Parts: sequence; structure tokens; C-alpha cells
Amino acid sequence: MPKKQVKGTSSRKKISFSCSILAGDFTCLGKQLKSCEKAGAEYLHLDIMDGHFVPNFGLGFHAVKAARDSTRLPFDAHLMIADPTAYIDRFIKAACSIIVFHPETTPRPAYLLHKIRAHGLKAGLALNPDVDPRQIKRYLKDVDLILQMTVFPGFYGQSFLKQALSKIVTIREMIDSSGRNIFLQVDGGINEETLPLAVQAGADLIVAGNAVFRQGNIIRSLTRLKRIAAEARRQA
Ligand code: DX5
Ligand code: ZN
Repeated sequence: MPKKQVKGTSSRKKISFSCSILAGDFTCLGKQLKSCEKAGAEYLHLDIMDGHFVPNFGLGFHAVKAARDSTRLPFDAHLMIADPTAYIDRFIKAACSIIVFHPETTPRPAYLLHKIRAHGLKAGLALNPDVDPRQIKRYLKDVDLILQMTVFPGFYGQSFLKQALSKIVTIREMIDSSGRNIFLQVDGGINEETLPLAVQAGADLIVAGNAVFRQGNIIRSLTRLKRIAAEARRQA
């Protein structure tokens, strides 16, 4: 039986950052992605939206390719699309390191998770703020990442929903009890005030859009966020 971790003794990884390029300036994206690299971003977060699953459009394949040609940073693709199964092969070929989808968008989440992992990529499930994370307990053995949305998906720059904090705590307990090495990603409304809350609740992979790309200076913004996260991790 895996050992249950108690708060403060968990084997949590260091805090990593994934910059959400949806919030970037597409007239100079290449330059901005280099700034993310310089400031020590671990991943770039690609929000893929089809106007069905969410009421907005996000990055398409041409934007993913342009980003791929601009940086060596690994991509984590967040599929907010009605039919991920129909497009999964193209995302696997698009050189993404992590592919995450919402389980309600397919009748066979395990099939998609296995398919992604069979190609040597990491696979994850994303949960909206109003979903009970215990619903995905049965997939814990099949995932490398669980993404807890802290806004309702669709747009960058929204306010962090504090009611999602208890879900992060629940997911942290599920992960620690599983004994598996699973990222706990949070996505939506992260800023210098909400970041410590997410980290103390148990997150270890932070998505940030507005807080990185829209504050005037990417390197300065991300460097500060990383420092705040490390401090919050020490205190957790
Ligand atoms: C929302 C997206 C998020 C968003 C994050 O639908 O999934 O990744 O771009 O942006 P911020 O950090 O600005 O909330
Ligand atoms: Zn996202």
C-alpha cells in the first residue's frame, strides 16, 4: 500500500511554471518566448479552443508550429475542444510534451490517456472548478498530470476562483496516496496574491498567462513569480 503523506512531508517536486501563450503578444511571440526561456520557464502552455467546448477560439496548428519554431521549451497542450479524439494524432505529431484534455469530452478517457502515453508523452486530465476531483480517482494509474482549473476555461485574465482551493487539496491527497509521480497543475487567475494559495494547497505546476505576459516585463514578472512560489513551497 502506498504510504499516505501528511502536509509538510509530501514528496512534492519543486514548483515549475508553464507560461500560457494565449496571453502573449502575437506580433512578437518569438521574442516573448525567448524571455520566458531566459526567466526559467519550464514549459509553455498552449490553450487549444474550438469555440464549442468553450465560448472562444484559441491556438490552432499554425500557431503551435510558429511557437515550436521559436523555442526549445517543452509544450504542454491544454485541449479545450469538443472532440479531442479526432485531433489527438495531430497534437502528438505537433511536438507537445504533455497533452491534457477534459474527461467529459470523450466517452473513453483511458483510451486517450493510453494513446498519448504510448507515444512517450505525458498525459493529463483537466477539471473545471465545479467538478468533484474524486470522479477521476479511477484514472490515477493512467495519468502523469492533473490540471485543476481555477477559472472557467475560455479566456486569460480572469479572476482566480478561491472555491477551487479545496479541490487542489483533495487532488494533492489523492496523488500522495497513489504513490505515483503526478504533476498537480493549476490554471487560471494566478498572480502574486493567488500563487501562494495555490502552492500551499498542493500545486506544483503553475500556469500563468496574464501575470507573465501582460505586466510590462516578462523576465521580471516570471522571476518574481518563481521567487514567490519557492517561498510559499518552503512554508507549505
Ligand atoms: C483559460 C486557459 C488558461 C489561461 C490562463 O481558458 O485555460 O490557460 O490562458 O491565463 P491567466 O493566467 O491569465 O488566467
Ligand atoms: Zn489552459
